[in-house]
Amino acid sequence: MALLLKYIMSLQFAEQQTELFRASLLQWYDPNQRPLPWKGESNPYFIWLSEIILQQTRVEQGLSYYLKFIKAYPTVKALATAPEDEVFKNWEGLGYYSRARNLLAAARYIHHDLGGQFPETYEGIIALKGVGPYTAAAISSFAFHLPYAVLDGNVYRVLARYFGIHVPIDSTPGKKQFQELAQICLDHENPSTYNQAIMDFGATLCKPKKPLCESCLLKDGCRALTAQQVQQLPIKTKKIKKRNRYFYFLEIHQGGQVLLQKRTAKDIWQDLHQFPLIETDQHLADTKALFDSSAWQHLFQENDWAIQQISKTYQQTLTHQKIFATFLKIEIPDQVELQLQDAFWQAEEQLKVFAFPKIIDWYLADNSLYLSLT
Ligand code: ADE
Repeated sequence: MALLLKYIMSLQFAEQQTELFRASLLQWYDPNQRPLPWKGESNPYFIWLSEIILQQTRVEQGLSYYLKFIKAYPTVKALATAPEDEVFKNWEGLGYYSRARNLLAAARYIHHDLGGQFPETYEGIIALKGVGPYTAAAISSFAFHLPYAVLDGNVYRVLARYFGIHVPIDSTPGKKQFQELAQICLDHENPSTYNQAIMDFGATLCKPKKPLCESCLLKDGCRALTAQQVQQLPIKTKKIKKRNRYFYFLEIHQGGQVLLQKRTAKDIWQDLHQFPLIETDQHLADTKALFDSSAWQHLFQENDWAIQQISKTYQQTLTHQKIFATFLKIEIPDQVELQLQDAFWQAEEQLKVFAFPKIIDWYLADNSLYLSLT
């Protein structure tokens, strides 16, 4: 009997805690919410666009892309029928291009297979390419007021801290426990406001590094704060190991034209453009090692070439790899013909038409000669 009573009391306590959490969160949200253009939006297509753009992207960065996309593609049909390269160009700078590819594939699916009708159930929404549980919950709640709680890095952090949970968020039991808790905390009467509130709270107040605990309306109920464990939570077990890749981009010019390639392989930056690339698995101590490499020999054969400029090494950190890119600007005589798969010559002043990976954009923006050409 005593055990049962203890169990019932613990359930009651847990319920009180989740109720307090929900009420305090909504109270915080009312005066503190960020005014964002997709909030209060009822068009599921626009909501979907905003959520895909905001995957792995901060609101400050995603905002201008959202405005650009709804202007360029005001309907699913407009997006579904847009030229692929144009969509990629509009996506340029956002990174994680598989999002753009999936976005297009899903728009075409809605346009061709669903008669242009955006799906209205959680199951229909999560079946769209590029939509996972988080995005499906966000769209379902924002567009259709369906009771699905969002759970992403921000939400894991908020819940782990407030409820003082030490189970690793990347473990199977952790994921299950947080999913259940997120769903219990959800305001089933108003899932849309609740989901938006926890997103904004995690992004602006309960931040990873410098949370604003002093001014937090939820601080009295926050277990991590009471136990001085805010910085330790949430707990993650696995560390992502990153692979280093060394890219030597060859910006080859010939009579006012420059050689470009489209990346077609199943690798990072698929469908974006680049200068012909020699990749090595370690940093080369000098350019001689590059000129002696079989890739270089194969490309230039016996032909003449002249190096005009070698850039500094640019670095970009992706989720699973770290890229080190060096650019060599090379001029070749008019009569030389290079054999390179998928490569094409393009007038120098046309470069800006193509979508490049960020690291190439950084180089191009740095390069004063290019700035004067474009
Ligand atoms: N991150 C992902 N979706 C968001 C949204 N709708 N509002 C704010 N941040 C978000």
